[in-house]
Amino acid sequence: MMKNNKSYISQLKDFVGQEVTLAGWIYQARSSGKVQFIILRDGSGLCQCVVEKGKVPDDVFDKLEHLGQESSLMITGVVRAEPRSVGGYELAATNTQVIHATADYPITPKEHGIDFLLKHRHLHLRSQRQWCIGKIRHTVVDAIRRFFNDNGFTLVDTPILMAAAGEEEQSLFEVDYFGEPLYLTQTGQLHLECAAASFGKVYCFGPTFRAEKSKTRRHLTEFWMVEPEVAFIDLPGLLELAENFVSYIVARVLQDNKPQLETLGADIPALEIIKPPFYRLTYTQAVEILTGEKTANFMAEQLNQLKQQKETIEKRIAEIEKEQAGQIKQWKRDKNAAELIDLRSDMEEINIRIENNPKHAQAAAEFRWGKDLGGSDETIVSQMHDKPVFVTNYPAQAKAFYMKTDTDNNKVVQNFDLLASKGFGEIIGGSVREDNYDMLLKRIEEKGLKSENYSWYLDLRKFGSVPHGGFGLGVERTIAWLTGQPHIRQCIAFPRMMDKVYI
Ligand code: 4AD
Repeated sequence: MMKNNKSYISQLKDFVGQEVTLAGWIYQARSSGKVQFIILRDGSGLCQCVVEKGKVPDDVFDKLEHLGQESSLMITGVVRAEPRSVGGYELAATNTQVIHATADYPITPKEHGIDFLLKHRHLHLRSQRQWCIGKIRHTVVDAIRRFFNDNGFTLVDTPILMAAAGEEEQSLFEVDYFGEPLYLTQTGQLHLECAAASFGKVYCFGPTFRAEKSKTRRHLTEFWMVEPEVAFIDLPGLLELAENFVSYIVARVLQDNKPQLETLGADIPALEIIKPPFYRLTYTQAVEILTGEKTANFMAEQLNQLKQQKETIEKRIAEIEKEQAGQIKQWKRDKNAAELIDLRSDMEEINIRIENNPKHAQAAAEFRWGKDLGGSDETIVSQMHDKPVFVTNYPAQAKAFYMKTDTDNNKVVQNFDLLASKGFGEIIGGSVREDNYDMLLKRIEEKGLKSENYSWYLDLRKFGSVPHGGFGLGVERTIAWLTGQPHIRQCIAFPRMMDKVYI
């Protein structure tokens, strides 16, 4: 019978020398005939369990040998510190109890394409990669709430069903609401502005929907956004809030999730320097950078580097393939197969970047004042900076109706985007809101929106209107930036994308 002292792998450091019982799933297993090494995962971590013939009943030993990957079981044993083992502790097994024997688990260490893995997301969530990202997401979400709760903000849950657009009308998802059209929320901002006049500092945090016909690595149709809104704040105040907020999230992830960042190969030193102040550029300065000689040289240099990286990866792939064709131990074969998956996915990414580099360089050189910055323009500006960059004061014509016109230059608005460092691109969009009734009405009409849909929103400008503003941070983009994931679909458990919803 199993002992009752069930423990989690994450707690093993407190039980060295004692007998505990772990309950989990087989992550990997190998056997030398006399000893079986089972790497167990229990949701809190991984632990190598060493099962020696003669130390457990013979029938138990035999049964274990035939268990497939992801079989579930309980293992009792004595905990010992073993720095060379995954997690730093091992379990010397004294007994096991199989809960569910599994055969032919479809996700093996051999190569699987992204399409296969997304179709098997219900199982792939158990992989180390998805587990590490999930743990980091948990910290990010906790840090978001803690930051605002500790800084005097009140949470206000804004509706998901909306009567009118909060952003671009083209990206609305329509819902049949008892025969009338309603839309899934694109932002909680407009409702938050009402609440800011009641509570002063508020935030909302929830799922957000955009029917954007965009298949890029930065777009989901359903994503999570946190939006703070503050009464009596100006643009410099908003930038300060945003940089403190982002720095707090980064510090929390570094504090709570170093092992997961390491497993994912994230650039930890690059994260350690993320502290205020961030860089500040106006849109006009960003355009000067994009069209300048420095950017042309930067892009040419980058192309060279990418080609060199490609060569290095090609060499490594050839080396491994040669090894795989020969006689090698099974564990080495599996390790090689796993490395090949990573190398091929890196290669795919590098090939795309090599193909895009000249197009993006040309788009930057030809950029003209007045357009919104495109994804590739943001990437270039953020690649040229080691910390996040605020880009402020975009042309009014390129931005949403609610943004306040600048007092010194009526061609631009008092807004900002925050571009994450190292080429990731935009993670935050925000602005001071137009608080003047007539100006707001004019902007609504200029954008071709129906003013009657916004009568309640306009009302805020009739009764105690104050300067106010806020921003929205995309959770998946932030996680992709922190963890170095090339595509944000890895940063939510069940992604929804324009071309496909898998499970
Ligand atoms: O810049 P956006 O559109 O800003 C707003 O929605 C404002 N109303 C927010 C506010 O001021 N309260 O979106 C904000 C952020 C982006 O910077 C990005 O991180 C994320 O939301 N985002 C997306 N993330 C994933 N997929 C998409 N399709 C996204 N669209 C925006």
